[in-house]
Amino acid sequence: MRVLSGIQPSGSLHLGNFFGMMKKMIDYQEHEDLFCFIANYHAMTSLSDGKVLAKGTLEAAANFLALGLDPEKSTFWVQSDLQEVQELSWILSNFTPMGLLERCHSYKDKVAQGIKPNHGLFAYPVLMTADILLFQSDKVPVGKDQKQHLEVARDIAIKYNNEYGDVFTLPEPEIDENVATVPGLDGRKMSKSYGNTIDLFLEEKALRKQIMRIVTDSTPPEEPKNPETCNLFQIYRLFLDKGQLAELRTRYETPGLRYGDVKQELFETTRDFFAPYAEKRKALLDDPDGLRKILAMGAEKARYAATKTMRKVRKKGGLAY
Ligand code: ADP
Ligand code: TRP
Repeated sequence: MRVLSGIQPSGSLHLGNFFGMMKKMIDYQEHEDLFCFIANYHAMTSLSDGKVLAKGTLEAAANFLALGLDPEKSTFWVQSDLQEVQELSWILSNFTPMGLLERCHSYKDKVAQGIKPNHGLFAYPVLMTADILLFQSDKVPVGKDQKQHLEVARDIAIKYNNEYGDVFTLPEPEIDENVATVPGLDGRKMSKSYGNTIDLFLEEKALRKQIMRIVTDSTPPEEPKNPETCNLFQIYRLFLDKGQLAELRTRYETPGLRYGDVKQELFETTRDFFAPYAEKRKALLDDPDGLRKILAMGAEKARYAATKTMRKVRKKGGLAY
C-alpha cells in the first residue's frame, strides 16, 4: 500500500512533532511503500524569504534523515524538485468548483485572522490534491487540521474520474483521533504558536531550562500525586515502556516524590534519547551537497511514479496531441 504525506519545512522541531507525526511516518517505511516529501511550495503561502526557505528545506531533510527515515526504503524528496505537481495542479483546478475552496476552514480561519488572502492561499488545497493524486496514494496520514483538505482531494479525484474514467486512486485519509496530543509546558497542546515547546536538538543548557519550566501543581513532596492530571508525567511517559511507566506511576502515588527530581530525570532522558540523532543531524548538515544528492535520488524515484500518472493525464486531457 502506498502511504504518502508531506511536511512543511518549519524551523525547529518539538516533541509534539516527533511523537505526534514523524515517528509514525518513519515506522511506515518498514512495511508500506512510504512516500514522504518536504512541502516547500506550500510553505510559500506563509514565507517569502527565499534564503530562509532554502535553509529550512535542508534542515527539514536533515531532521527526517537523522531521525531514521531511510531514503533507500522510502521515497523522500523535496516537492519543488518535481514540477509535474504544478502541471497536475493546474489541470485539477479545472475540476475544482470555487465553492469547494471557499468552504475550506483553514482558508476561512486565516482570512478571519486578518490575513489578506492571495490566490496561493486559496488554491493551497488543489496543490495538496495534486501531491496526493500524482502518486496514486492509497493512504494519507494527516493531523485533524488537514481532514477537510483530504475531503477536497477526494472530491476532485471523483470529479476527474467521472469525466475520464478511473485515472486516480481515491485516497483514504488516516486521521488518528487517538494519537494523543502531546501537551506543552503549560498543559495546552504543544505548539510553536503557544511558545510552550520542548525542542529537539537543543544545547543542553537550553533544553534543561525548557524542561524546568514545565508547570506542575502545588502538591507538597510528602503527599501522593495524581499522575493522570500531571503534565510532567504526560510528557515523560512518551519515553517510557510499559514497565517503566508503571514504575513511575507507583512513585507518583507514593509520598516523597519531588517534581524537581522528575524534571531532572526527564531532562537527562530527553538529552540522551536525542543525542545520537543530533550527531547524525549535524553530520548531514555539515555536508549539504551530500544531502542534496540524497534528495536528488529521492526526486528521481518520485519522478518515475509521477511520469506514469502524467502520461495518462496528458493524454486524457488532449495535452499530448
Ligand atoms: P506547530 O503547532 O508547532 O506549528 P505544526 O502544525 O507545524 O506544529 O505540526 C506539524 C506536525 O506535527 C502536524 O502534522 C501535527 O500532526 C504534529 N504535531 C504538532 N504538534 C503536536 C502535538 N502537540 N501533539 C501531537 N502532534 C503534533
Ligand atoms: N498541508 C499539509 C500540512 O500543512 C502539508 C501537505 C502538503 C500534505 N501536501 C500534502 C500533507 C499532501 C499530506 C499530503 O500539514
